[in-house]
Amino acid sequence: MKKITIAIDGFSSTGKSTLAKQLAKELGYVYVDTGAMYRAVTYFAMQNGFVGENHLNKEGLINELLAIKLEFRFNPDLGFAEMYLNGENVEQPIRTIEVSRNVSQIAEISEVRAKLVEQQQAMGKNKAIVMDGRDIGTVVFPDAELKLFMNASAETRAQRRFDELVEKGQNVTYQEVLENVQQRDYIDTHREDSPLVKADDAIEVDNSAMNKKEQFELVMKLIEEKI
Ligand code: C5P
Repeated sequence: MKKITIAIDGFSSTGKSTLAKQLAKELGYVYVDTGAMYRAVTYFAMQNGFVGENHLNKEGLINELLAIKLEFRFNPDLGFAEMYLNGENVEQPIRTIEVSRNVSQIAEISEVRAKLVEQQQAMGKNKAIVMDGRDIGTVVFPDAELKLFMNASAETRAQRRFDELVEKGQNVTYQEVLENVQQRDYIDTHREDSPLVKADDAIEVDNSAMNKKEQFELVMKLIEEKI
């Protein structure tokens, strides 16, 4: 069977990672969550005082980029890889609302993007990969055999993210989550470097009215045409 590259882009909380994990498992492919990489750099920036409430020290962070080592390590109990920052498992802290509030500002920095895109391209050089993010089909793998662009209404997405955060025991309101989703979408689609746009050859999947199983089956049909 032919090995392909599957690029999944789309707005925040559209279920990209859930779908990507299902596909990787079914196909025996590697799954890479590029949002986790931007979140880990943001967490590093917060820990080192480069970003916080109402301040951003871009130059300071850029000068420290070489000191940031990101790795994915597969966790067999969970069935997917977890994000490590300089040897520390940061899966939990990178998913907090505080990191979500700062991440889009960090993802606007071209030097940060260049570093992460280089690492992402190296991870995908042998294909057999499912990668999700905002610029995968446009910048990271413009030649991917299958590109998906995921969408759902902002309210549906905020409700899903809110349920996830509550389940993890985080103290947030639906309104805060909705505002965060809308703010990130705005910054992600308006930034100068690699804004979130649908690649011309991407297939749009709106899952507002689809359950996970229906979505998975639809996408598996698209994949079967390519492999
Ligand atoms: O996918 P997730 O919502 O975890 O991504 C967090 C943030 O990282 C996004 O809102 C976006 O600002 C940034 N990002 C990006 N490019 C990617 C993946 C994520 O700019 N490929």
